[in-house]
Formats: sequence, C-alpha cells, structure tokens
Amino acid sequence: MSDAKIIDGKAFAAKLRERVAGEVARLVSDHGIKPNLTVILVGEDPASQVYVRNKGTQTEEAGMTSVTHKLDASTPEAALLELIESLNDDPACHGILVQLPLPDHIDESKVLAAIDPDKDVDGFHVINVGRLWTGQSALVPCTPYGCLMMLKEHFGGKLSGKRALVLGRSNIVGKPMAALLLAESCTVSIAHSRTEDLPERCREADILVAAVGRPEMVRGDWVKPGAVVIDVGINRVPAPEKGEGKTRLVGDVNFAEAAGNASAITPVPGGVGPMTIACLLRNTVVAACMQNGIDAPDI
Ligand code: GUN
Repeated sequence: MSDAKIIDGKAFAAKLRERVAGEVARLVSDHGIKPNLTVILVGEDPASQVYVRNKGTQTEEAGMTSVTHKLDASTPEAALLELIESLNDDPACHGILVQLPLPDHIDESKVLAAIDPDKDVDGFHVINVGRLWTGQSALVPCTPYGCLMMLKEHFGGKLSGKRALVLGRSNIVGKPMAALLLAESCTVSIAHSRTEDLPERCREADILVAAVGRPEMVRGDWVKPGAVVIDVGINRVPAPEKGEGKTRLVGDVNFAEAAGNASAITPVPGGVGPMTIACLLRNTVVAACMQNGIDAPDI
C-alpha cells in the first residue's frame, strides 16, 4: 500500500490559469494590450482537433484573443510559410503555434524555423532551444516547463544537487526537460530505448521524468524509494474490464506499482496533461510582454 503524495496537476493548472488571467487583465487595463494566441491546424487529425479546440477555449477563458486557422490537409508548404510570415508581421498576434504533427509533404523543421522566435510560444525554434541551453531568457516548451513548475513547488524550490533522470529524448519533452533541470543545478541523465541497464539507471534518480510514450513501461522496482516521479505519458490502451471495445488512459509509468516506492507521483490523467495548455497561456502572456517592452510577470 502506498502513501505517495499525488501531485495534482489539474489543480495546479487551474491556479496557474488564474494567475495568467490576472496578468492578462493587468495588461489590458494598464497597457491596452490583449494577448493574442494564433493556432494553425493543418489537416484533420482527430487528437489534434481536440487539442486545438481546448487551446482556443482556455485562451478565451483567460481573457485573451484566440485565433485558429484551419487549413486543408493538402495545403502546400509554401502557403503555410506565407501565413506564418504574415502572422510574424502582424503586431496584433503575440503567439504563433503550429499544431504538430504536420502532413508528410510539409517539412516540420522548415515550418518551425519560419516562426518569429519571439512569437514561438511552443519554444521549438532553434533560437529558443539555444537560448534555453545557454541560460538566456527563452520561450520554453510547455510540457517540460509544466513539469518543472510542479517539481519546484514540490521541493520548495530546492532542486539543486538532486539526481534527475529523464526517460525520453524528444525535442518536445525529453531534451528541454533535461535543460530545465540542469539549469536548476540537478545532476541530469537522459535515458532512452537504447540505454543499457535502464531499470538500474532509473533507480539512481531522486527525480524520474518518464516521457517515452510506452504504456506503463516504468515498473515499481525501477523507482528509488522516496523518489519523485513525473509521468508525461498519455497512452490509450484497451480496457476490456470496462466493456468490449472500451479504452483507458495510462502513463509511461505503472502507477500502482510506482506509487509504492515514490514519495510523490503525478497521475494519468490529471497530472502533467493539464499543465501543458496552462503553460502555453503563460508563454503567450510572456511573449506579449516581451514584444511590447514590458517586464514579463513571474508566473
Ligand atoms: N502536438 C503534440 N504536442 C504538441 C505541442 O506541445 N505543440 C504543438 N505545436 N504540437 C503538439
């Protein structure tokens, strides 16, 4: 039986959205600036449609302007680049997000490179990646930033010297997560599918961040007693116990097992997931401030 603390990402994200809404109200009243987040969706990927709809709703709920461009799956790359160019030049647009994945005929790296780094609220532009790794002020990818916020709150800000292992090396989560933990003076390892002795490596970590996209891959005995576990995975798996054809969401960590060893752990759903859009809203406020020469709020 576990007594691990459950890190409530849903509640944390609600509080962050409240702080963002407060800053938006201040920007409107003191500066006449209403932050604008513009999202581009190419094609009809069902999961992307849900994400984009949620982003739009939460942007408006925070008092900001939400614009969504829905483009046909056959949109030529040049047309997408032209749209990004016009948004870069539009002072009313503060944040640009191109929903990934893109259709195969579009070169993702070319598209991400076309976004003005100061409007890159995803933090995916190589300029922002470079700024993050060199300790400069940057727009930072939302999911890892959300994980960091929860870790900082859990540890009362004291991450320095902790051994952190990030399982997964994606540009969206694994690599920026490692950079953020390093900037907090953690001793950081990045592990992945080719890592030798993976369970042992995980067991060395005071902070274990799982972002591999493999359902329940991290078992209970991979978790060091007392470690803090952040589960970034969102995997849909069959749930025949709920009825024929039913599914359920699980993380990259076997929650029931890991909770037996961890001192704190994020659940799936309700852990990291809700933090991503909340951090996107925060990045949009930060971007709007930067573009208008206003000190970015500490939110
Ligand atoms: N697709 C899945 N996650 C993300 C994200 O964080 N940003 C964008 N732009 N697309 C995604």
